[in-house]
Formats: sequence, structure tokens, C-alpha cells
Amino acid sequence: METIGNTPLVQLNSVTKGCKATVLAKVETTNPGNSVKDRMALKMIEDAEAQGLLKPGGTVIEGTSGNTGMGLALGCILKGYKLICVLSDKQSKEKMDILRAVGAEVVVCPTAVEPEDPRSYYSVSKRLAEETPNSWYVNQYDNPSNSLAHYEQTGPEIWEQTEGKITHFLVGVGTGGTISGTGKYLKEQNPSVQNIGIDTYGSVFKKYHETGIFDENEIYPYITEGIGEDILPKNVDFSVIDHFEKVTDKDAAVMTRRIAREEGIFVGNSAGAAIAGLMQIKDRFKEGDVVVVLFHDHGSRYVGKMFNDDWMRERGFLDEEHKTAKELIASHKDLKLIECASEELVSHAIAKMKDYNISQIPVTRDGGYVGHVDDKKLFQALLEQPDILDKPLAEVMQKPLPVVSEKEKIETIKALFNEETPAVLVKLDNGKYNIITRYDMINAI
Ligand SMILES: Cc1ncc(COP(=O)(O)O)c(C=O)c1O
Repeated sequence: METIGNTPLVQLNSVTKGCKATVLAKVETTNPGNSVKDRMALKMIEDAEAQGLLKPGGTVIEGTSGNTGMGLALGCILKGYKLICVLSDKQSKEKMDILRAVGAEVVVCPTAVEPEDPRSYYSVSKRLAEETPNSWYVNQYDNPSNSLAHYEQTGPEIWEQTEGKITHFLVGVGTGGTISGTGKYLKEQNPSVQNIGIDTYGSVFKKYHETGIFDENEIYPYITEGIGEDILPKNVDFSVIDHFEKVTDKDAAVMTRRIAREEGIFVGNSAGAAIAGLMQIKDRFKEGDVVVVLFHDHGSRYVGKMFNDDWMRERGFLDEEHKTAKELIASHKDLKLIECASEELVSHAIAKMKDYNISQIPVTRDGGYVGHVDDKKLFQALLEQPDILDKPLAEVMQKPLPVVSEKEKIETIKALFNEETPAVLVKLDNGKYNIITRYDMINAI
């Protein structure tokens, strides 16, 4: 238990490019449970013991997104308590498996219900605590030992590690323990330190902080894990928070991956949200400012989610701009490009479209591309002049299709498509041509 805390402060160099301040990450993954929550979990257990709430052989019960559960589990193992963790079903499977691995009983509840609903994870945790003899309900949301752990440990560590030079503390807010405890300590040392909370779309914090209104319209399901709430936990001390910044699920997920790949720091989703939020407000920071961003937990808890390409793609979180023409034509790269010569008749072109089940054909003359025909325009022309079938394509064809290289990015290719341009030709490195159709684009996007 003595290995909890004294986590490193690491300068970020890549993902914060464009921000004038020095940005330091307080990386909490070196705690034994791989998250910042070990600090408050142990503090809550020991305070409950001291207050006589938790007695020998007792059962600890908590509604937790996983990290607090992990911290509690380690404490319970060493101190001989049983642990029941109640999780909402949007939490990653890894988090549930990890809790089971350290001996906790895991109860899963639906996310998309009101907090007062008897199925919600708040209600289920409370009910289990009432029904289980010799049990103690932790309630990290309202338990003052949560913030206190950060006031006593995280705050002083950051103050010492920055030699008092910290100007801003920025962190994701869930129960509020981290920002409130750490932020209070830092402001007591230097009242001009600014505490910035990162919130999610679907959470009540930002609006409540700015207007004092608890707006239920702000509440809807979201994907980001660990931060944002549909309640106001007692541990959120709004008086020490200077600003809340909301970050989208996509921006948080994309940045989570970038921190791993560009900084070599493998941390979780709320770290991604924090850095994405920092970059949204980067103009607030000036040269000489020292911003400390706290990274709550380890990336291994998200390998089935933000670090999984299929999971990211299904939600439209993977930026398509990384795709190139070569990838767009991958499914038909070995097929010969169907073409027509400019002197061929319209009826030939229509027969080819039917035979090959295609909608457009590039038209050639003297080995070069001089135009194209597509089914929509041909159909229109046929309606107006039925005798067009026996005319050469040269008389009806439209302008040539644009040509790109194999390496051209999808963003550029996308911009070439319009009413007049139903496809784009690709000049391959071997000198041959292939075609990107609307269907290729739809599949890619
Ligand atoms: C991954 C993660 N990030 C951020 C938070 C928010 O921290 P706090 O509850 O101290 O506000 C939590 C809390 O559950 C978390 O698990």
C-alpha cells in the first residue's frame, strides 16, 4: 500500500504542439492498481475503519466505473474484506474482467436509465448495501475522503514536483474528487492557479457551473468513460473550478490513441479527453505557463474500445483521411478497367454497362482518356433523342474523369466527386489505370 502515490510528472512534446505553455502530465498509471483511484480508495477504506463504519470481515459495496473498484479490491485483499462492485453496462469488458481477477463480485446495470430508477447503478449499489449484513457502502460521489485523498497527496505532489510553478491544473471530472481536492490545495498555495475541469457532452457539469441550472436536457448517453455525470456529486466543489470544457466522444477517443502513439504514454480515455480539451482552449495559455494535466488510468483497460480499430470505425471515429486511392480500389485492383473508344456506339457502351454491372465508362482516343459516359446522363439523353443509340460516344460523352495517383488522400478525392464527375481514375505505379466509383467512396466512408 505504500507504493501508492509519488507518480511521475512527464513533459508532453507532440500532442500539445501549438500550445505555448509547458504541459506536464501527472501519469497515475504507476499506482499499484494502475489508476489515480488507488489514492482515494485506500483513504476511504481507512477513514471508514477509523469511523467504525467498516468492521472486520465486512463487505465493501460500491458503484464504480472500474478504477475505484480496482483500488478498493487491492485494499480489501490486504485487509480481509469482501468487495461487490456495481458497474453500468457501458463500461469496458476489460474493466469488469480485471475486477473479477482481483476477487471482486461484479454486478452490471443498464446505463440508459434515470439515476432514481431501481435498475440504475446508484440504486442497485444502495439496495445491496442495505440488504447485505456487515456491509459498508463507499459512495465515492459523496464520500469526503475521496477529495481529501487528493488534497493530502495529489495536490502536494504536484506543487512540489513543479516547484510551485504550476499555473493551471486540468483534469477530467467524474466524482469530482481529483479536481476538488487537488485544486483546493493548489489554490491555497497560490490563489492564481486556475483549475479547469473536462466534461463530456451528455453531462450536467458545465451548464450547472456557468448558470447554476441543473438542466436535464443536458443528460444523454455518451461513450467517454470516467468523466461527466447526470448527478451533482458532493465531491464536486464548484467553487475551486474556474472553467469547464466539454469534449466530444470522438475527439476524446482519437486523442487517447494519439497520446499512446505520439508520446509513448499508454493511458485511458479520460486522458484523451483532457488533452483534447486542453487543445480546444490552447489560446488561453501563454509562454511560461505550466499546465499540469492528470492522466487517470492505464490504456490496457481500453484495448477493446478506443485502441481497437473496428470499434473506432463502427462509431465513425477513425479519420478517413488516412486512406489513399490505393486502399479505395483494393477490392478490384486486379480487374481490368472497362473502357470504350470514342468512335464506339452508344449502344455498345450501354451493353458493356449491363454486362459488367457498372454505371460509368471512361472513353479513350489515341491511348488517352478524352471523356466518359455514365448511365444517368445516357438515360436522360435517350429520353430526349431515342436515335442516340447509333451515334458514336464522341457525340454524347462528357468531360474526362479526373486522374489521381495511388497515393492521393481520400479527402482530396472526395472533393472531386460531383454531379458531373461520378468517378475518379487512378494512375497506378505500374502505368495502368483503375477507377474509384461512388460505391468505393461509400464503402470507405
Ligand atoms: C478513467 C477515469 N477518469 C476520470 C475520472 C474522474 O475522476 P474523479 O472521479 O476524481 O472526478 C474517473 C473516475 O471515476 C475515472 O475512472
